Amino acid sequence: MYTQGLDQQGNKTEGPEPVESAERLAAFQARIDDEEKIEAKDWMPEAYRKTLVRQISQHAHSEIIGMQPEGNWLTRAPTLRRKVILLAKVQDEAGHGLYLYGAGETLGTSRDQMVADLLSGKAKYSSIFNYPAITWADIGAIGWLVDSAAIMNQIPLCRCSYGPYARAMVRICKEESFHQRQGFEIMLTLSRGNDAQKEMAQDALNRWWWPSLMMFGPSDTDSKHSAQSMAWKIKRFSNDELRQKFIDVTVPQAEFLGLRVPDDDLEFDQETGHYNFGEINWQEFYDVLAGNGPCNTQRMANRQKAHDDGAWVREAARAYAAKHAADKAA
Ligand code: 3HC
Repeated sequence: MYTQGLDQQGNKTEGPEPVESAERLAAFQARIDDEEKIEAKDWMPEAYRKTLVRQISQHAHSEIIGMQPEGNWLTRAPTLRRKVILLAKVQDEAGHGLYLYGAGETLGTSRDQMVADLLSGKAKYSSIFNYPAITWADIGAIGWLVDSAAIMNQIPLCRCSYGPYARAMVRICKEESFHQRQGFEIMLTLSRGNDAQKEMAQDALNRWWWPSLMMFGPSDTDSKHSAQSMAWKIKRFSNDELRQKFIDVTVPQAEFLGLRVPDDDLEFDQETGHYNFGEINWQEFYDVLAGNGPCNTQRMANRQKAHDDGAWVREAARAYAAKHAADKAA
């Protein structure tokens, strides 16, 4: 296996790139074990770089695709205040995506390549965004549940061993907290409203609860990347650990809202201090990952159209950059 030809100090090595020797790999793991941050110019195993590009680019894709379900409600928000809050959230998500593409580019993969991998179906985005936002309560449920799950997953990523990703997460998590609170406030307003509003809130919880649990990924026994990602301290907790944390925090919130979590097997275990919960429909999860969710086709068609519609902007920016560089060189 070849490295990108950088020595331990990050200087380009001359001649044929060195093979990843056991000593080099051991030295790298020792840096990880010592809680050192790996920076873009540092030597890293190709597999470390590849799994980071995989995860960071898919994270970025999720932020951008995630704008669609909420964006569809900007013109239908019930008040100007709600419209302004939702507009701010959707704009934040776009910024999160660009931030994460930037972090991905530090690993030597271009944004064009990351986006091409998404549009070709090679790269994934989070399963959760393949579900429809049918009522205004869904916008509340997305903020409350989806952004809460995102926070649960992203706070540990602030301590990720790869410096640019960890630092991107710090800013993103600050904005996610506002996203979660505005969603919870929508659910609180509805759950304190008339019967129709209460029903709308319960219906949204019924449809978003299980897909939110799936956001954390397959069970630990089925997760193909977790073990290595945890050894490299990309992940600090396993999928199941974060899922359990989310359930333990969110069930009391649902009770405060006067809503019922749609899981007949949910019960608090006094001994463990955790909620026991029912079996996740993994067939549904893998069906959505395979492209057969309720909105996969629509989400990807919209993303492809946005990419095509934006081609002129990219060409203009390249032409301007080329002319600017030529003028500078002249
Ligand atoms: N949706 C889509 N694909 C998923 C998934 C999900 N919910 N959960 C897992 N997968 C995929 C993985 O990407 C992997 O496929 P790949 O090899 O093609 O990449 C496969 O299923 C096996 O899963 P693993 O558990 O082995 O994969 P990971 O170790 O990468 O764990 C993860 C999956 C927990 C999603 C991890 O990648 C991660 O923490 N990513 C960063 C956070 C993220 O991407 N969140 C997405 C939501 S962003 C968001 O909600 C924005 C907010 O502002 C609303």
